[in-house]
Amino acid sequence: MKRFQDESFRNSMKIRVDFNNMMEGFVSNGINPAEIEANEVLYAEAAASMVSKRGNMKWRELPFNQSKIVAEINAKVAGIRESCEYFVVLGIGGSALGPIAVHQALCHLRYNELPREKRNGPKLFVEDNVDPERMASLLEVIDLKNTIFNVITKSGSTSETMAQLLLVTDALKKEVGDDWAKHIVATTDHNKGNLIKIAREFDMDTFYVPDGVGGRFSELCPVGLLAAAVCGIDIEELLAGAAYMDKLCENPDIWHNPAYMMAALQMLAVDRGCNINVMMPYADSLKYMADWFAQLWAESLGKAVDNDGNEVYAGQTPVKALGVTDQHSQVQLYTEGPFDKVVTFLAVDNYRSTVTIPHGYDHIPDVAFLGGHTFNKLIQSEQFATEYAIRKSGHMSCTVTLPEVNPFTVGQLLCLFELMTAYAGELLNINAFDQPGVEEGKNATYALLGKPGYDAKKAELDAAPQKQDRYII
Ligand code: PA5
Repeated sequence: MKRFQDESFRNSMKIRVDFNNMMEGFVSNGINPAEIEANEVLYAEAAASMVSKRGNMKWRELPFNQSKIVAEINAKVAGIRESCEYFVVLGIGGSALGPIAVHQALCHLRYNELPREKRNGPKLFVEDNVDPERMASLLEVIDLKNTIFNVITKSGSTSETMAQLLLVTDALKKEVGDDWAKHIVATTDHNKGNLIKIAREFDMDTFYVPDGVGGRFSELCPVGLLAAAVCGIDIEELLAGAAYMDKLCENPDIWHNPAYMMAALQMLAVDRGCNINVMMPYADSLKYMADWFAQLWAESLGKAVDNDGNEVYAGQTPVKALGVTDQHSQVQLYTEGPFDKVVTFLAVDNYRSTVTIPHGYDHIPDVAFLGGHTFNKLIQSEQFATEYAIRKSGHMSCTVTLPEVNPFTVGQLLCLFELMTAYAGELLNINAFDQPGVEEGKNATYALLGKPGYDAKKAELDAAPQKQDRYII
C-alpha cells in the first residue's frame, strides 16, 4: 500500500488556509464576515456554475482519469532514467512553468549538481525562452547522444517551441544521424497543430494533452507528469494530492471551501483597491510555485471583456517574492507602501532538512543568541514576524501552510490554486480559460517572421504608428 492510500497520512498532510489577516479586527479596512454572508447568493451561484461547467473543465478530471497514462509514463521513464544523461523540456508558458515548479518543489534543491548515483536520473533542463545565448549555452553543456528532448506544445505551433524543435532536430541529425527522432518525445494535442504531424511522420514517442485542458491548467497531465516521473517524483501521489483537494473543494459552503474562500477574499480585496497579489513562499522548494501561479492568475483573470460582452478590464496583478530573501528587498514596500496589495505567504511546518546553528562567538551576545536554534526555527520565525509586521501596518495577508513539501501536498497546492482561479473567473463573470491577449502577440510574431497566412496582420503592423526618434534619447 502506498502512503497516500492511508487516510491518516492524507489527513495529516492536509494543507491549511489561514485568512485571519484579511479580516476586520486584524487589519484596517479588513473584511467583515457579514460582507461574506451578504454575498451568499453570488457565491452560491458561482459554486453552482463550477458544478454545471465541470464537464467542460477537463483539467479537473486529471487527478481521477489517468491511471493508464501514469502506467505508460512510468514504463517509458524507466528506460529514460536508466539510459540518458540529460532530459530537456522545450516549451513555454503553461508547457514549462508547471514542470519547473514541481521539479523545484520535489527534487533535491541542487538536483543537477548531484553526482549521477545520488540523482538517480538524468539532469533536467526546462528551456522556456528563446534567448540565443541560452540556446547556444544549452548545446554546449549537454551531450546530444545522451539527451532526450521533450517538446511540449498543446497548440503544436508556438513559434518559440517550434524554433527550439528546429534547432535540436538539426543538431541531432548532425550528431546522431538516422536515429535523431528517437531522441525526441512530443507532448501535444491528439490532432491539432504541426507537432503531431511531425511526430507521426517521424514516428516519435508521443504523449497527449487531453482535449479541454488548457496550457496553464495542464501540469497534472503528461505536460508535467513525464518530466516529474523522469526525475523520480511519485506522480501517483501528486495526483492523489490533487484529488484530495478537489474533493475538499466540492463543498458548496464557502466557509468550508478553501479555494472558493481564497478567491472570494481576493475579489473583496480588489474592491478595496488591492490590485496586486504577492505570493511569498518561505521555502526555496516553493519558489517557482509563485511563477506558476503568476501565469495562472494573470492569464486567466486578466480579461478586457466579460461573458456578457461588457468591457471590464478585470484582473489582479500577481507578484512573486521569496521569503526570507525579499524581506530585504520588498517588505519595506509591503508594510509602508500603498494599500494596493495582498500578500499570500506559503509556509511549511516541517522542512525536509533540519540544520542547527552552531554555538560560537560567545563573547558577542548579539551573535551568540542564534547558536543552538535551527535554521528551521529561524525561517519560520521570520515568516511569523513578517506576517505580524504586515498585519500591524494594516495590510492584508493570508497564509497557506503545507505540513511538509511532498508530492501529496504539492498536488493539493496545484489543485487549490487552479480551483481558486476558476472560481474567481466565475465571480468576475469572465472566461478564465482563454488568452486572447497572448494570441495577439503570437500572431504579430508570425506576421513579422513571414508565416504564411499572416499578410493582413503584417499590413496591420506596418500601418501602426511608427516610433519617432525624438522619443528615443
Ligand atoms: O496557458 C496557456 O494556454 C498558454 O500560456 C500556453 O501554455 C503557452 O502560450 C504555450 O502554448 P503551447 O503549449 O500551445 O505552445
